[in-house]
Amino acid sequence: MKKGLLFVLLACMAGFAPAQDITLPAPAKTGGRSFLETVNARHSERSFVKRELPASLVSTLLWVANGYNRADKRTVPTAMNKQEMELYVILDDGAYFYDASKHVLKLIAKGKFKEALGQPQITLNAALTIVMVADLNKSSIDMARISTGYISQNIYLFAASEGLGSVARGSFDGAALSTVLQLGSHQAITLVQPVGYLE
Ligand SMILES: Cc1cc2nc3c(=O)[nH]c(=O)nc-3n(C[C@H](O)[C@H](O)[C@H](O)COP(=O)(O)O)c2cc1C
Repeated sequence: MKKGLLFVLLACMAGFAPAQDITLPAPAKTGGRSFLETVNARHSERSFVKRELPASLVSTLLWVANGYNRADKRTVPTAMNKQEMELYVILDDGAYFYDASKHVLKLIAKGKFKEALGQPQITLNAALTIVMVADLNKSSIDMARISTGYISQNIYLFAASEGLGSVARGSFDGAALSTVLQLGSHQAITLVQPVGYLE
């Protein structure tokens, strides 16, 4: 059995605390660095100090990444407005689904899942990692990968605007993570991206 999968099974068997969703505060829609300063500051960071992000920053980060900025459309474009991308979040205490329409983090499972993300030198100290997931019933994987780029860049830009660090990660164990996130066969993980405080 693969190491990642074994870890996931052991974590699931360990019996964690009861389910708890996280209701996010309203995202900030003003503030931050100027656009040009933000673009100038964008870069990849792989080394973080362990510290939780306040709910206000988690809220704005997720809204920037893939939230709704109009009644039925989002901060990132998708081909033919298919909106095939959804975000999942690995926090210290568990795995969550970002329900963008309700702006809520819905608990999938309590547990220590950061190790399932791989590259521990990057992810263990990050405040959270966003997992980008495509619904292949809505769009092709080619279009989903393009949408993923928009989401990833929005995350990078928000991190740069707030003085946080982030790095796109194409290197991950898709099978182990899919098990943690309880994904179906029509769903594919396209990228993972930690965000955290800088040293
Ligand atoms: C699709 C994609 C996948 C990437 N995968 C990884 C990865 O698995 N691990 C990593 O440390 N960096 C990864 N990176 C970050 C790149 O190494 C980084 O963007 C590049 O070195 C340029 O540096 P910059 O982002 O600071 O401009 C990835 C970047 C992209 C766009």
